[in-house]
Amino acid sequence: MTAPIRARQRAAELRARLNQHNYHYYVLDDPVISDAEYDLLLRELQDLEAKYDDLVTVDSPTQRVGAEPLSSFQEVKHKVPMLSLSNAFDEHEVISFDRRVRERIKVDLVEYVAEPKVDGLAISLLYEHGALVRGATRGDGMTGEDVTQNVRTIRSIPLRLLGEKSPRLIEVRGEVFMTFKGFLALNDRQRSAGLKEFVNPRNAAAGSLRQLDPALTAERPLQMFCYAVGELDTEELPQSQYELLKQLRRWGFAVSPLAELVEGVEQCLAYYRRMVDRRGALSYPIDGIVYKVDSVSRQQSLGTVSRAPRWALAHKFPAQEETTVVNAIEVQVGRTGAITPVARLEPVFVGGVTVSNATLHNRSEIERLDLRIGDTVVVRRAGDVIPEVAKVIKTYRPQAAKRFQFPQRCPVCRSEVVYEGGEGVIARCSGGLYCSAQRKEHLKHFASRKAMDIDGLGDKIIDQLVDAGIVGDISDFYALTAAQLAGLDRLAEKSAQNLVDALEQSKQTTLQRFLFAMGISQVGETTARQLADHYGSLDSVMNATEDDLQSITDIGPIVATNIYTFFRQPHNKEVISKLRRRGVTWPETGPTKRDYSNLLLSGKTIVLTGTLHSMSRNEAKTKLQELGAKVAASVSRKTDFVILGADPGSKATKAEQLGVEMLDEEQLLELLAGPRPR
Ligand code: IVH
Repeated sequence: MTAPIRARQRAAELRARLNQHNYHYYVLDDPVISDAEYDLLLRELQDLEAKYDDLVTVDSPTQRVGAEPLSSFQEVKHKVPMLSLSNAFDEHEVISFDRRVRERIKVDLVEYVAEPKVDGLAISLLYEHGALVRGATRGDGMTGEDVTQNVRTIRSIPLRLLGEKSPRLIEVRGEVFMTFKGFLALNDRQRSAGLKEFVNPRNAAAGSLRQLDPALTAERPLQMFCYAVGELDTEELPQSQYELLKQLRRWGFAVSPLAELVEGVEQCLAYYRRMVDRRGALSYPIDGIVYKVDSVSRQQSLGTVSRAPRWALAHKFPAQEETTVVNAIEVQVGRTGAITPVARLEPVFVGGVTVSNATLHNRSEIERLDLRIGDTVVVRRAGDVIPEVAKVIKTYRPQAAKRFQFPQRCPVCRSEVVYEGGEGVIARCSGGLYCSAQRKEHLKHFASRKAMDIDGLGDKIIDQLVDAGIVGDISDFYALTAAQLAGLDRLAEKSAQNLVDALEQSKQTTLQRFLFAMGISQVGETTARQLADHYGSLDSVMNATEDDLQSITDIGPIVATNIYTFFRQPHNKEVISKLRRRGVTWPETGPTKRDYSNLLLSGKTIVLTGTLHSMSRNEAKTKLQELGAKVAASVSRKTDFVILGADPGSKATKAEQLGVEMLDEEQLLELLAGPRPR
């Protein structure tokens, strides 16, 4: 049906308003209306278009998704070739570039625009009379592929140019990319669906744009920053790169917010150094900086050689991946005795730092990589994380390459190594605090920020204190004197005194910190806090039974056993009393429990066994606890009730023997229904 004039006007108005809101939301990241209001406008437009099909236009916001899958991509010839950039890998090359530019155009100081080099793929967007009519990949620079349907699904790309006046024809170019967050989420989805994961955000962006079915592209979190113009039929474009970026922004394109106008090569290099520092904090990948001569007439007079402009340069960041040789594999012993294999590497410069060690995580990782000593490997470093071996280059494997044998004895204390976890992937030294490696890690944990927070007591100092036999256990820290400390390497008298003061200060602590500082296996900050809140005093924690410990919601049988066993070791009890004698102290509050006195289950000890139908055992446990009951793991004379689910085990027999009252699930539900007078 042909639309009446009123409907036509309303549709045009809705399209304009929706495009404007889209720009605020996806480009400016600053929405002016709520999602619900946007949906309302969109639905109104959809209804109009459904009623009058002649109202559907290519630039309608209803047309982003929904095109049919293609069987192949058409070729696109770029009328203006899509150039590549010359690269510079160090500052000297940038200085030479600037000198060549100045000599050619005969000026002393050149204005450049410095922009991040986004690590995605170059895309061309063609607009006719303001409407997006074609999107194409760069391809080889001369011929690319038509990915119009797919680029239409990218929300930060305008389907219609904003503003009053649009050129009859303009081709805008830029980089399509994926954020790290979008990339990780996409890989999560791929993994759950049993599909192949992408190796990095750039591959993910390229793979997403090359989907034949635009519905798939629409699900991918793609974004685009624009930075150049190709084909064009207007003379009225800004004559400066910096002004061009502003014009692109006015037309509704997303432009890198980090682009800056700089003067001369010194400012280029200063910008580069700033970006090297900021790089890790950006939400998307960049692999360098692009410097472009700002003046368009100067660009024209400089011209192009072999497909790269003389007026632009890509100053690359140091690689995040590099190849090197594994000279040896050694193991490190952690605080809990876990033995981690480490690759000792031929030193290599990766991502701006020299790397000579890479973690190999565990035994199965070495098997997965099929790594041998002598292998050539790819080492990867991302941000501040510990460098890892990404893969082995098998074709470079020397004949003499040796397999690594996991040790049977701890390399530090010679105690036996035990293997745990699925298929024994976790190797552990059984030496406990007898092992000086474990002792050092234990001492470091005790001093760390979230534990006793002893300012200035760093790893190097602790290593020396242990090696010199000055410190054997954590209580020895509090007997240290400034004179002893001043004898250590790298510790001047002043710092020695500061450290003694810091030790003194750390004695005033909290029960939570103290419990965490003990380094009990699997007792992290959270569990330490729960213990402190629940028991209020160290003695109550130390006296708690395993059953009692398990009544705390997040504490299961293994952690309960770890805590219970820890406080039964004479050595640990001895160290704790020494710490107390030497002045370590914290406020004790007594248990901060709710008042359950008016509740039926207050003070009752209940044991659950068998399968419940209406809820899980954990849910039942929580509900009973809320009503003041203590839920214990095993039946004893102190047990008040045993709740029997289906197929109860030995706990039912025990309850029978001891004459403990037993309730079935129905009675449990009655009990949970609430307290009532008996
Ligand atoms: S300018 C003549 N600017 O780098 C201008 N390119 O190595 C040519 N790239 O194919 C491109 N960010 O994919 C330019 N701000 C930026 C860029 C950028 C990323 C990519 C683009 C291009 C490649 C050249």
